[in-house]
Amino acid sequence: MQIVILDHPLAHHKLALLRDRRTPVMLFRDLTVELGLLLAVEATRNLSTEGRELETPLEKMSGRVLTKLDPALVPVLRAGLGLVPSFLKLLPTAKVGHIGMYRDHASLKPVPYYRNFPPMLEARAIYLLDPMLATGGSASEAIQEVKDAGAKDITLVSIIAAPEGLARLERDHPDLRIVVGAVDRGLNEKGYILPGLGDAGDRIFGTV
Ligand code: PRP
Ligand code: URA
Repeated sequence: MQIVILDHPLAHHKLALLRDRRTPVMLFRDLTVELGLLLAVEATRNLSTEGRELETPLEKMSGRVLTKLDPALVPVLRAGLGLVPSFLKLLPTAKVGHIGMYRDHASLKPVPYYRNFPPMLEARAIYLLDPMLATGGSASEAIQEVKDAGAKDITLVSIIAAPEGLARLERDHPDLRIVVGAVDRGLNEKGYILPGLGDAGDRIFGTV
């Protein structure tokens, strides 16, 4: 499994603000989008390009353009929706699928409730978007769902990961690529990431 952890002054700065319990909903959403842009730049490093002849106002040259079919973004509802605008800003023609899933509070097991994917997942670069990787149960299940639908080239994009979640994905999906903003210390007894940022869905949608 390939893991890339963002190391950029802007990422550190924005993540610190995002973690702060006093950060209000509007700013939390904006920061999620801004951090999402930095994650998107890193995550899309795997896209392949090919040469294309073009003419500038001055002369002919060979430029480089994306080769593959449009990538697919797959946010895991709800919190994954917070990262979609950043990825669409950089990949405006990307297709967007959805996976609906919540974590049962008692068992911490993911409960799937919705899925909708664009066609030809097997030929697209897939960016699975979920800000929090805690036990890894939700991500592992979501990755299995896109694999069952044909996906092969899968990158999970998260803002914060716990070591427990990374270990689970290493075991379940060794072929995965992960781009993450930070790896935190661990989980508390309720499965929340420490120090983390709290419940990402609640903080993005103001349902705290
Ligand atoms: C959060 C988060 C992940 C999951 C991570 O979703 O967005 O999907 O928990 O936890 P795990 O790694 O232990 O599975 P949540 O269940 O709170 O749903 P929500 O986004 O609808 O709030
Ligand atoms: N989901 C969240 O939103 N936050 C956590 O810390 C763990 C799971």
